Amino acid sequence: MRQLKVPALASNALGFMRDLIHAGGTGGLNWHVHAHYSHKRWQPTVQLIAQFFASIDPKSDHLVLIGGSAGWMMPPSWLTRFQKIDAYDIDPLAAWLFNWRHGTALSAQGITITHHREDALLRLPEILQEHPNACIWFDNVLGQHRYRVRDEVRVERELGVIKTILKGRHWGSLHDVLSGPTDGRLLPAGLNVWSHHVAAKQGLVPAFSQKLLATVGAKDVWQDHLTSHVFSPETQTTWMPWAFKPNYWHWLQAGWVHA
Ligand SMILES: C[S@@+](CC[C@H](N)C(=O)[O-])C[C@H]1O[C@@H](n2cnc3c(N)ncnc32)[C@H](O)[C@@H]1O
Repeated sequence: MRQLKVPALASNALGFMRDLIHAGGTGGLNWHVHAHYSHKRWQPTVQLIAQFFASIDPKSDHLVLIGGSAGWMMPPSWLTRFQKIDAYDIDPLAAWLFNWRHGTALSAQGITITHHREDALLRLPEILQEHPNACIWFDNVLGQHRYRVRDEVRVERELGVIKTILKGRHWGSLHDVLSGPTDGRLLPAGLNVWSHHVAAKQGLVPAFSQKLLATVGAKDVWQDHLTSHVFSPETQTTWMPWAFKPNYWHWLQAGWVHA
């Protein structure tokens, strides 16, 4: 078959446009528009994220933030615990929108933020060397790895090895574990599901995932985001439901690892 070689400049421009629009299915303009219109529905999850952050002690005043996007789900009270933030995202709009949403609060407290438009998973070892005293936060990015890398075995291997690369560092992650359609009739207007905030020394054993699915009225086929080996089994984690769309929910897992 005849193959056409795309010149480097055109290929860079294509990559830029792809990241601008959907960041390989993980962010970009699509994400920003959806996040903007979902603000109200997402607030219970944002509150659970804030509770999680309040329970941890990051032990550094320097944060490396990976996949922070515009920080649509980022409680400002977490960001203001640091003096210095280095934010990494592949989305060309992330820096501008993050500063628009959080810049005023950060500069009022003298917190410096430097944005880097880079693939932080590809360059993780170098980024760690560049910021030897920082703690690291993966902000709902690891569960999207499978959309950028279509090989499931490789995705699981790369996500599973992150904890080894981070040995000796304080770090944490919030990420998708499962997502799928829900039975609208079971979605609560009230608090039962939102208060289902489980801190468990528990992996994704079948009985536990069945419990997660039943709690949100899951139906049809749910997607596994291949993140079940991000944390080692002894890391205590918190599980949070997220009504990504009214009838399409995610289960998020958050955890923090002390060096
Ligand atoms: C679901 S969004 C997270 C949004 C963010 N936590 C918020 O509250 O708005 C995932 C983000 O990760 C970014 N991303 C995906 N893969 C990345 C990578 N390898 N390196 C850096 N950023 C990445 C995407 O561009 C996107 O902004």
